[in-house]
Amino acid sequence: MDRLVNKRILLGVSGGIAAYKSADLVRRLQDAGADVRVVMTVSAREFITPLTMQALSGHPVHTDLLDPSAEAAMGHIELARWADLVLIAPASANLMARMAHGHGNDLLTTLCLATGAPIAIAPAMNQQMWADVATQRNLLMLQEKGVHVFGPASGSQACGDVGQGRMLEPMEILQAAAGVFDHQLLTGKHVVITAGPTREAIDPVRYITNKSSGKMGFALAEVAAEAGARVTLIAGPVNLATPSRVQRIDVIRAQDMYEASVAAVEQGCDIFIATAAVADYRPVVTADHKIKKSTEEVHLTLVKNPDIVAAISAHSKRPFTVGFAAETQDVVAYANAKLINKKLDMIATNDVSGTNVGFNSDNNALTVIWPDGHKVLPLASKRQIATQLMELIAIRYRQ
Ligand code: PMT
Repeated sequence: MDRLVNKRILLGVSGGIAAYKSADLVRRLQDAGADVRVVMTVSAREFITPLTMQALSGHPVHTDLLDPSAEAAMGHIELARWADLVLIAPASANLMARMAHGHGNDLLTTLCLATGAPIAIAPAMNQQMWADVATQRNLLMLQEKGVHVFGPASGSQACGDVGQGRMLEPMEILQAAAGVFDHQLLTGKHVVITAGPTREAIDPVRYITNKSSGKMGFALAEVAAEAGARVTLIAGPVNLATPSRVQRIDVIRAQDMYEASVAAVEQGCDIFIATAAVADYRPVVTADHKIKKSTEEVHLTLVKNPDIVAAISAHSKRPFTVGFAAETQDVVAYANAKLINKKLDMIATNDVSGTNVGFNSDNNALTVIWPDGHKVLPLASKRQIATQLMELIAIRYRQ
């Protein structure tokens, strides 16, 4: 059920006796790793209290469209944008009718109109109401709008009738909800990305580093999380905000980045992407105190740092391993050599001789090379380049 890990589920509860099952559903969704927020209609609150749902979800329950305090915390448009899936369970006949006809006369129906996320409903109602031609017409309209419909099941009903209209059990709804994310490129995959520079201390105030800003690696992390992956971002010292739903590990030295990378891979990693500009060498000795300006010349002895991406590609739990190459001449030839020498599955090379791409720029242009092919990704924003690169990685990874 790892397709629900990190997913943001907006659980809508409408009025009906099956509303009591939505409390269990909150738990099941959370156990599967989802982040759940609850929205209740007025009639849902006749069957189960917002306090119960708040206690279970760990977040305030949203009930009213025009509630100033709720709007101040997370406005309804923000909530609609926040969701990866709007899941309505139970969905009453009344709610289905309002959704089918595009009403926005309460918070839940407004969210359905305002969201770009997929919407799923788990209908629950009396069997005669379900069979009614109006409900069936509404159902068809919702399906035509792309709404996923989970159930209903057949069986004995709270009212004493027997027939179709029972809400699916929470576990069945959970599985169906996970299925909505099947199409995502990296759903359920663990992607580990290194980003930014490393810093190798000479003394307490001086260090060796480079111009990497971390922007390329952070853009990749953001795109991977949006494609459904669980993302671990191992970041050198950079001044960037952590992308949403990304687990960030901050490091300073190449040795720290190496250790964090190996630990992440040992936990189980599907794809490793080495975007970081790792210092190849570090001072053999780091002075305990600031080095004084006493002599005309100072000689630093440097020693090689571990090659992180090469170590990961040689690891017994080897993930699909992607390197980067920052070159100023013979870009493709040098990148090809790194692909072979570091035993990578793919390498993305950028020409960093200018200032409009590569280090610290908002844009990049890459030539992506793998053992039997290559693709040029022309100049674009790092975010766009990250999207294109991640698609290539996902395709090659699955082959
Ligand atoms: O951070 P930005 O400002 O957005 O800039 C992006 C970038 C230019 C840093 C990025 O696009 C890039 O090219 N990253 C790789 C930079 C680099 O150090 O390349 P390299 O050719 O020296 O290293 C080759 C590969 O080995 C890289 O994947 C690097 O992460 C890896 N490596 C290098 C040395 C080392 N000790 N360990 C490594 O894992």
